[in-house]
Amino acid sequence: MAGNPPILRRLGYLTPLRHTGRIGRMENPTRFPDRPLLRIAVLGSTGSIGTQTLDVIAAHPDRFHLVALAAARNETLLREQARRFNVSLLCLGETEARGALTGTDGLCELATHPDVDLVVVATTGAAGWEPTLAAIRAGKHVALANKEALVMAGSIIAVEARERGVVLRPVDSEHSAIWQCIQGEGVGDSHLTAPRGVRRLLLTASGGPFRNTPLAEMAAVTPRQALAHPTWTMGAKVTIDSATLMNKGLEVIEAHWLFDVPYEKLEVVVHPQSIVHSMVEFEDGSLKAQLGVPDMRVPIQYALGYPDHLPYGDLPRLDWERAQTLEFQPPDVDRFPCLRLAWEAGRLGGAYPAVLSAADEEAVCAFLAGTVGFTGIPRLVERALAAHQPISQPDFEAIRLVDAETRAHVREWARSPGPLPVG
Ligand SMILES: NC(=O)c1ccc[n+]([C@@H]2O[C@H](COP(=O)([O-])OP(=O)(O)OC[C@H]3O[C@@H](n4cnc5c(N)ncnc54)[C@H](OP(=O)(O)O)[C@@H]3O)[C@@H](O)[C@H]2O)c1
Repeated sequence: MAGNPPILRRLGYLTPLRHTGRIGRMENPTRFPDRPLLRIAVLGSTGSIGTQTLDVIAAHPDRFHLVALAAARNETLLREQARRFNVSLLCLGETEARGALTGTDGLCELATHPDVDLVVVATTGAAGWEPTLAAIRAGKHVALANKEALVMAGSIIAVEARERGVVLRPVDSEHSAIWQCIQGEGVGDSHLTAPRGVRRLLLTASGGPFRNTPLAEMAAVTPRQALAHPTWTMGAKVTIDSATLMNKGLEVIEAHWLFDVPYEKLEVVVHPQSIVHSMVEFEDGSLKAQLGVPDMRVPIQYALGYPDHLPYGDLPRLDWERAQTLEFQPPDVDRFPCLRLAWEAGRLGGAYPAVLSAADEEAVCAFLAGTVGFTGIPRLVERALAAHQPISQPDFEAIRLVDAETRAHVREWARSPGPLPVG
């Protein structure tokens, strides 16, 4: 244990140190005394995951030390965070500001900086995949919230991470749950490959706010209704994705790459209470599940503190004094065509998942801007997938190109008046 760095001491984030009796060595009286201090960069620090990550870091000054911050444009909050944690390495991905790096190059510079041990990738959409790859290539630990990175470029990111021995620590609650369930199951112990005895990975989904909405009313859903998620508070893009169930589709592709399992071994189960965060079914029919109150600070903290379950004072707990009902049901792909489209794109492979992700991001923007209706989202995505010319093994440049082309097409289609034909 290196002890608390001077900056944390100045800020008053000190945990008491006591002598071990040996000269020159101090011991921290926490339950995990031998872990090194992790120096952390948070990309997307001003968002929902980013701000919760900062809370987790502040709760464990003996384990985590914040050294770099990045956002898209929210300079005011970024500077406030920089002051609070005394951080000078800053980046704004989508604008320029004095004393801050800028653009994708700036994000990559933070992600590979020599003072950084672990990079939390909590940006939305396509902004995450290039810094994630850069961090892996620089041998950093990566805690990945940005699911789009693996959807767009899983064939490059997951393969390079495995080759370089970098464990991609999932932040998504479902993948964190599966990661926790495969601990102690042989090969799953030290990295993310699912052990051989796994029959299925079951990703749970809340079903979103429109689980029981009559089909005929889906076209009239407004952004305000779609932004009201029943169990999670999240950024706008992921909340709309949760309402269309595209989020679950993206998570299926993410799980395929993270745990190195074929799509036949992945399943989605609707579980409205969001208490069971996901499950692993083994060959003998035995199931392991990870449960808890839906609060993203739990999987964030596990990703940072892995392999420890650290204490965290005010986290809510399941109240076993009250009766609990846990329901499970199969998803309705007629109601939620985005889920079907994501499965199809994942199975087709190549650059199809990159098309899916880019088309969805643009379609969600158009929906939030009021240019297309709720059911226009899957129609735009389907049209983009149908227009794509297959590429079997896309490299870095091919993914960039597909992303740019798809966005341009979807923006154009969203602007054109009239119905959205498929193909
Ligand atoms: N929220 C959740 O509970 C949750 C759960 C599981 C997974 N995730 C995943 O985590 C990611 C983040 O979700 P969120 O809900 O935290 O989103 P959010 O609240 O919208 O925050 C997004 C963050 O990314 C930053 N950002 C966007 N584009 C950027 C760019 N080009 N360069 C630098 N920073 C950029 C934003 O900065 P500005 O503030 O300046 O715009 C903001 O800090 C998504 O991929 C989502 O799917 C989220």
